Amino acid sequence: MSSERVEAREPRSDAEWTAYYALRWRVLRAPWQQQGPERDESDAISTHRMVCNRQGQVLAVGQLHRVDDATGQIRFMAVDTGQQRKGYGSLLLNALEQAARELGLHSIILQARENAVPFYRQHGYHTVEKTFLLFDEIQHYLMSKQLDGVS
Ligand SMILES: CC(C)(COP(=O)(O)OP(=O)(O)OC[C@H]1O[C@@H](n2cnc3c(N)ncnc32)[C@H](O)[C@@H]1OP(=O)(O)O)[C@@H](O)C(=O)NCCC(=O)NCCS
Repeated sequence: MSSERVEAREPRSDAEWTAYYALRWRVLRAPWQQQGPERDESDAISTHRMVCNRQGQVLAVGQLHRVDDATGQIRFMAVDTGQQRKGYGSLLLNALEQAARELGLHSIILQARENAVPFYRQHGYHTVEKTFLLFDEIQHYLMSKQLDGVS
């Protein structure tokens, strides 16, 4: 983790929400010439966390969507280009898993881009199956993890 002070929390202001969706689009959509801003119908009913520094710069974003009474799905995880491999993705993932525990969820599923599979493995996720190809080139894998510490 970088020595800079950062925190993982929900966006608070309109400006932060704008920065949140802009980062999602910049990392996950813009490189494939996709239209922005990137929003989804699940956003209104999901839990969101962003990692930001003390200057308010948004470094990483991610969404937790409740699938059923026991299961959450983590979606749209994105760490800004140039800020990757500094521990921000791990901080974000831990915050989303903690939010899932607080909702009483027992497991997490996610669709991992191939490049992100080692990251999720490092955090205890296992690969269930190879799934879809996004934009004709990004292979995804369904991964899952049981959460401990949920009563
Ligand atoms: C994948 C992603 C969320 C990971 O976040 P991150 O902040 O870069 O990852 P961290 O620094 O927290 O990594 C923690 C550990 O995970 C593993 N890891 C992370 N990225 C990895 C990679 N590309 N290859 C191999 N291992 C990786 C490493 O063990 C790493 O520890 P180390 O750096 O000390 O070796 C981020 O790189 C990202 O947004 N990538 C582009 C968009 C994307 O693919 N999003 C995921 C969609 S499913």
